[in-house]
Amino acid sequence: MTDPVTRWHRLAGDTVLLDGFHALKHALRFGAEVPVAVTADRAAALALAEELAPDVGDALAGLLTEVPYGTYTSLVPRPHPTAVAALAVRPSRETSLAKLSHTPRTAPVVVLDNPRNLGNAGAVIRLAAGFGATGVVTTGTVDPWHPTVVRGGAGLHFATTVERLTADELPPGPLFALDPEGDDIRGVKLPDDAVLAFGSERTGLSAELRARADHLLSLPMRPQVSSYNLATSVAMTLYHWSCGAPLQGRGALRE
Ligand SMILES: C[S@@+](CC[C@H](N)C(=O)[O-])C[C@H]1O[C@@H](n2cnc3c(N)ncnc32)[C@H](O)[C@@H]1O
Repeated sequence: MTDPVTRWHRLAGDTVLLDGFHALKHALRFGAEVPVAVTADRAAALALAEELAPDVGDALAGLLTEVPYGTYTSLVPRPHPTAVAALAVRPSRETSLAKLSHTPRTAPVVVLDNPRNLGNAGAVIRLAAGFGATGVVTTGTVDPWHPTVVRGGAGLHFATTVERLTADELPPGPLFALDPEGDDIRGVKLPDDAVLAFGSERTGLSAELRARADHLLSLPMRPQVSSYNLATSVAMTLYHWSCGAPLQGRGALRE
């Protein structure tokens, strides 16, 4: 078997960097294929596994190879405090498209319409994983598997389905677009097959997504506040979906 550093360099171009212990832990939990994993301190990484993730302890023990700290830092853009890094196989586009288009659907798909901030995209993928959403789709130029997005998602890309699509390729299901000008979300029950679309941080929803929307919904917000952050908007909307019924009797926020 080749040494891990040679294997790393051979695989690095076609795989996804899992940066840090927690990203690797999540990826293993959710079934990622991890062909190589290194650490500058194997004993510390396995102690962390024993404390925080005994369910993947054996998998980590079998995977992690210790390398000198300088070797570890040469493999990653910036060192992580846990000094753990791994490469995982990115699911094929065909596999992702099949999961996204599968019906009947039991949980919504989140659409980020041309997101600009990679940290926001990662945070949304983490939310989607937490709520058991079917997937996260992005439109526009950002690759939702960009290393910075994967870092923000803490390895939870593997707990949902993540793909970049055009507006023409969106999965089936009623399209609910979130916009401060829409109807109050509190009066609406979001179905499990909903496609929930959120606009870009800078410019909001594109005309294309807006035109396709079956419903335009707003999150409650006091007058004079322009908008919420993208990831917090997704959090509120998924939470609302998870509650399963419109909230009654809360009233509008006071003017
Ligand atoms: C930071 S906001 C975009 C602000 C942008 N300047 C604009 O013109 O809309 C990003 C996205 O979060 C969602 N969002 C933020 N606040 C919202 C609210 N109060 N109601 C519904 N959606 C909201 C929308 O989908 C919005 O496009």
